[in-house]
Amino acid sequence: MKFSTALLFATTAAAVPFGNWKQWKQPSTNCLTDEQAAYINELSTIFQLKANLTAARLAGEELFAAEEYKQYGHSINSLRGDALGTLVEPSGTQYVENVLSAPPLARIDSLASLHNCTHIMEHWDFYGVGGPQNANIPVRGFSLTKVDLTREKQPVVWRQVEFNSMQWANNTGFTIEFPTSGPYAPQPE
Ligand SMILES: *[C@@H]1O[C@H](CO)[C@@H](O)[C@H](O)[C@H]1NC(C)=O
Ligand SMILES: *[C@@H]1O[C@H](CO)[C@@H](O)[C@H](O)[C@H]1NC(C)=O
Ligand SMILES: *[C@@H]1O[C@H](CO)[C@@H](O)[C@H](O)[C@H]1NC(C)=O
Repeated sequence: MKFSTALLFATTAAAVPFGNWKQWKQPSTNCLTDEQAAYINELSTIFQLKANLTAARLAGEELFAAEEYKQYGHSINSLRGDALGTLVEPSGTQYVENVLSAPPLARIDSLASLHNCTHIMEHWDFYGVGGPQNANIPVRGFSLTKVDLTREKQPVVWRQVEFNSMQWANNTGFTIEFPTSGPYAPQPE
């Protein structure tokens, strides 16, 4: 297990020789290294941020574009009005297209990352969800990523993504109203 602060993380990521995932199988290993975990997190950030659409597509395709990729998340289920547990993306290729067709974010901060031999958990803040007017509003969440090191390409098998969907909703134009009674109703001054 390895814990990286955002700062340490950036240092690790900078040292990674970017390239094709395949390179990471030389020498082959049956346990995710710190460098491999940092590489996957860094590519995932480039993909989600979409600051450069070409780089974002390359990163997304390298990690996720397997047909059998699966993504789950109650936060997205609720935003879409789907039953909890519904598969969020039908395939990896569709996931890549869906992310690339959404507007770019302002910034992504990696707050922490932990991994073992097969899974990576990353804690993050997405800034700018819903548009540049939200550039200073963080939507905080976690991704749990399952990796298969035996694969020649698209090492990510599935992801569980959960985040502050109330903030996401408000940023993207949902109307959020407090209840008028009960414990969550605003208290009189
Ligand atoms: C965008 O990414 C591509 C692919 O990595 C790269 O070739 C290009 O130089 C980048 N463009 C800018 C403006 O950084
Ligand atoms: C790695 O973490 C995942 C997620 O908690 C767990 O399912 C898996 O069993 C762990 N692997 C080992 C070898 O402990
Ligand atoms: C939703 O966003 C608006 C600004 O667009 C803000 O005034 C309001 O307080 C937010 N509501 C909640 C519940 O966060």
